[in-house]
Amino acid sequence: MQLPFSTIVNSEDETTQLATTFAATLKAGDIVAFTGDLGTGKTFIVKSIAKYFGIEDVTSPTFSIVNTYDEKVKINHFDFYRIKKVEELYDIGFDEYLCDNVAINFIEWAEMFEEVLPLNIYRIVITHLSDSKREIKIIRK
Ligand SMILES: Nc1ncnc2c1ncn2[C@@H]1O[C@H](COP(=O)(O)OP(=O)(O)OP(=O)(O)O)[C@@H](O)[C@H]1O
Ligand SMILES: [Mg+2]
Repeated sequence: MQLPFSTIVNSEDETTQLATTFAATLKAGDIVAFTGDLGTGKTFIVKSIAKYFGIEDVTSPTFSIVNTYDEKVKINHFDFYRIKKVEELYDIGFDEYLCDNVAINFIEWAEMFEEVLPLNIYRIVITHLSDSKREIKIIRK
């Protein structure tokens, strides 16, 4: 997949296809930060990527901050939405998670605590256009 990448998807199936193509390029230690309004499809894409790796039971970590899956691959799935202060991230050991070079890391609402994000990570920016139509951009920054 050539980055920067930008496309418009018209259905959940098209999003799943894109997520699967992107998943095939991911490797252990990668970090993928999602930006996009409520309900644009951040969790949907993480679920699709996890499915590609054989992990079926992904749910949103909004209340738990992080869910981890240690199956065929290891996945850390974060959601910053409910976090009020950056200290909460230190409390859950965010730094240790990111040092774990075995896992692939996904972060929803990543822009809320930009200061904790390393440089040179994948960024997926989703914009809701109408109904099932979304613009999806993938960059490395
Ligand atoms: N083209 C599409 N791509 C992704 N999801 C879509 C699409 N069309 C409709 N949907 C629906 O939009 C919803 C996206 O919800 P999802 O929980 O993934 O959003 P989110 O960005 O994670 O929201 P939140 O900010 O609350 O975490 C799902 O119900 C999904 O079925
Ligand atoms: Mg979500």
